[in-house]
Amino acid sequence: MSRKTRPDIVVRIAKPEDSAVCGPICFDAFSAINAAHGFPCDFPGPEASSGLLSMMFSNPGFYCVVAEVDGRIVGSNCLDERSVIRGVGPITIDPGAQNLGVGRKLMQAVIDRTNECSAPGIRLVQAAFHNRSLSLYTSLGFDIREPLSCMQGQTLERSVPGCAVRPAKPDDADACNALSRLVHGFDRGVDLAQAIEQGTARLVERGDRVTGYTTHLGFFGHSTAETNADLQALIASAESFAGPGILVPSRNHLLLRWCLANGLRVVQPMTLMSAGLYSDPSGAWLPSVLF
Ligand SMILES: CC(C)(COP(=O)(O)OP(=O)(O)OC[C@H]1O[C@@H](n2cnc3c(N)ncnc32)[C@H](O)[C@@H]1OP(=O)(O)O)[C@@H](O)C(=O)NCCC(=O)NCCS
Repeated sequence: MSRKTRPDIVVRIAKPEDSAVCGPICFDAFSAINAAHGFPCDFPGPEASSGLLSMMFSNPGFYCVVAEVDGRIVGSNCLDERSVIRGVGPITIDPGAQNLGVGRKLMQAVIDRTNECSAPGIRLVQAAFHNRSLSLYTSLGFDIREPLSCMQGQTLERSVPGCAVRPAKPDDADACNALSRLVHGFDRGVDLAQAIEQGTARLVERGDRVTGYTTHLGFFGHSTAETNADLQALIASAESFAGPGILVPSRNHLLLRWCLANGLRVVQPMTLMSAGLYSDPSGAWLPSVLF
């Protein structure tokens, strides 16, 4: 479709009640693109995507926008503002309104917001098979940083010698945040505090030191550790991974090979992209589906 036929698009802040419309759009958008490439949908049903967007639209740690055409919502996008590095997603457009410039407007809105807040960097995770999102994000200034393998299953080894895994408590936050600053150069303390409160955060200790933590072993959690062994201990402690799976940096060939030898299966390839500040992490890590 030519630019001349593109509709007038109004972008506004999302209201919590918009999740009733945006949730089904999110589910339909991912179902359609994933099915077209032979992959399972990222959400089990529209209730799951509505629940996620309802949480994001009402959490003050997220900046969320919707796009309207002729007064009708056709898509939404979210920006995680809980750390100095911002995370984008999920961005989804009604399948009937895709490729008309709506996604570009919703991406520009969160990039503008990031710049207005003087945040040093913005990141996202993209489905590697999706030509359109890759083209859109690259043209907007995002660079490819890491190929990722989304993996699911339960490891054959259920623990790693010398590494003790336990639930993280509020008192552990300082040690986990210090580790994140060491590995990534910044911490994700708000994210971690919420995960501790929700009971999904775990940490690993060697001796009396915290050597790794996870906010949640799954699509929406991130994990940071000193070494692959620490990360393996966390991964091995999970009965299953939430959502489609954990995101293993594919260039960490030792970890990827360990996951495969332990029976985990690759679900889909994904790509971490960033604009602004980025430095290679100095440790072992798993990003969330935001970054
Ligand atoms: C990905 C998505 C958000 C993009 O939104 P959209 O409204 O369809 O995209 P837009 O029309 O704003 O922009 C697409 C751009 O990619 C370009 N493009 C599309 N396919 C392309 C290809 N194969 N090669 C090069 N460029 C391509 C278009 O020309 C357009 O560029 P332009 O703005 O310079 O004309 C939307 O398609 C969607 O919801 N997809 C399903 C869910 C999804 O994958 N979400 C993203 C998760 S990472």
